[in-house]
Amino acid sequence: MTMSLETKLVVSSIALLAVVSAVIATATTLLFNDFLTDRLDLQVSSAARRSTSTAVQPPPEAREVSFLLFPGQAVDTFGARVRDGVVRRAAVLTGVGTVRQVQAPPELARVTGRPVTVSLGPLGDYRMVGVRAPDGDLLVTGLPVLGVQTTLTRLVVVEAAVTLAGVAVVAVAATLLVRRAVRPLGRLAATAARVSELPLATGEAVRLARVPEVDTDPRTEIGQVGGALNRMLGHVETAFAVRHESETRLRRFIADASHELRTPLASIVGYAELTRRGGEPHGPQTTHALGRIRSEAGRMTTLVEDLLLLARLDAGRPLERAELDLSPIVVNAVSDAYAAAPGHRWLVSLPDQPVLVVGDADRLHQVVTNLLANARTHTPPGTTVTTTVLPEAIVRVADDGPGIPAHVLPHVFGRFARGDGSRSRLAGGSGLGLAIVSAVAAAHDGRVEVASVPGNTVFTLSLPSRDQVPPGEGGPPDAHEHGGDQRERDRGGITG
Ligand SMILES: Nc1ncnc2c1ncn2[C@@H]1O[C@H](COP(=O)(O)OP(=O)(O)OP(=O)(O)O)[C@@H](O)[C@H]1O
Ligand SMILES: [Mg+2]
Repeated sequence: MTMSLETKLVVSSIALLAVVSAVIATATTLLFNDFLTDRLDLQVSSAARRSTSTAVQPPPEAREVSFLLFPGQAVDTFGARVRDGVVRRAAVLTGVGTVRQVQAPPELARVTGRPVTVSLGPLGDYRMVGVRAPDGDLLVTGLPVLGVQTTLTRLVVVEAAVTLAGVAVVAVAATLLVRRAVRPLGRLAATAARVSELPLATGEAVRLARVPEVDTDPRTEIGQVGGALNRMLGHVETAFAVRHESETRLRRFIADASHELRTPLASIVGYAELTRRGGEPHGPQTTHALGRIRSEAGRMTTLVEDLLLLARLDAGRPLERAELDLSPIVVNAVSDAYAAAPGHRWLVSLPDQPVLVVGDADRLHQVVTNLLANARTHTPPGTTVTTTVLPEAIVRVADDGPGIPAHVLPHVFGRFARGDGSRSRLAGGSGLGLAIVSAVAAAHDGRVEVASVPGNTVFTLSLPSRDQVPPGEGGPPDAHEHGGDQRERDRGGITG
């Protein structure tokens, strides 16, 4: 059974008190019983002595119990004369100083000098002593046990009442004390709970809550826990700060390195171009080499730009935040894709109204371009690529190509995740395209999802929607085919 610490402590103290009280009460009652019985026996013995001294007064009628009337005998004193083993007469002393005959049990004959308890039926139990009178008769004297019993009963009642009252007082007092004692534990738990709710996985440096000063006194057990908790929180905080610091340094290094690489790369491209166009005749080998230099330098430029962009997004560099319509961005990107791969079928579906979002036009253009570039480079010619813009600020790029390889799919948005294992591929990307898509979407508080099976690959980019502007301004149709007959939307501002 699970009990709170508070309940456990209170219940234990009550149980302890009850047990101790019971032991004390039992011992007291037993001792008191012995004491009262001893006293009664003394009284019986002295009453018996009086009986015998009276009994010597002559001439005692054989059947008489006049010895009961001896001054000093208490009311209810019992007396009996036994001769030759037969009870001759038995009586008790009444309140008015006379004797009243009573029925006596035959075992009276066996009463001796040692006090014994004998039942007198309706009169109750009596302690009795027998004394041999000078005339040879056995004089039995007794006193009622009732007084002793009444006293003991009253004692037990008082003990029970006192115990109950004590238990009640202890229950209240223990509850208050224990509640006060465990209150710091609650504060420790609250601190731990507050820390556990912090988003620690973001890698940001965080300021963690601490246990209040009063709960860190090392002289108390709870204080030791509180102090240890605070030290641990301090270590965790330092660790986070160090990690954040090193991450920041690494990001800055990547950003700086990428930035520095741009200029020499631009020079390489420029000089290669210059040499190629310089008019001097080259052998076929030199021409080939110059072409390779140019294309590899181009690839490297893209890679460096991607790295720089990712490093800046990682660093939380603020994006441009302008209100813009998604449709023209998509139309431009699809037009570019069509220009790059006329062998694919490029379809566009746009809503009638502008789809307004707040964001960075260049970055969003790059996102759509990356998605379309994938649909172009990772599918064979003839593949149909459908780009849909939904009014809820969703852009969907679907193709019926071979699909993303199953082993790539789970981490397709990861950095340098590529379908074909070889990195020495002549043409082809570095595996940063979708990482950028994901990072830009996140920077816009949006997200990107993928579902891919052979014949159907769908990327869905969801952005936080801006309030829809009232319709009326929008152009007509829904599906535009950038293929054989390439229609354009006036609003789209298409080039190409
Ligand atoms: N539409 C698609 N159809 C099939 N495979 C895809 C598609 N889109 C992405 N992939 C797979 O996902 C991998 C990762 O794509 P990502 O855009 O991140 O890198 P990349 O295209 O290889 O290189 P980069 O985009 O940097 O030039 C690709 O290498 C490819 O295997
Ligand atoms: Mg790509």
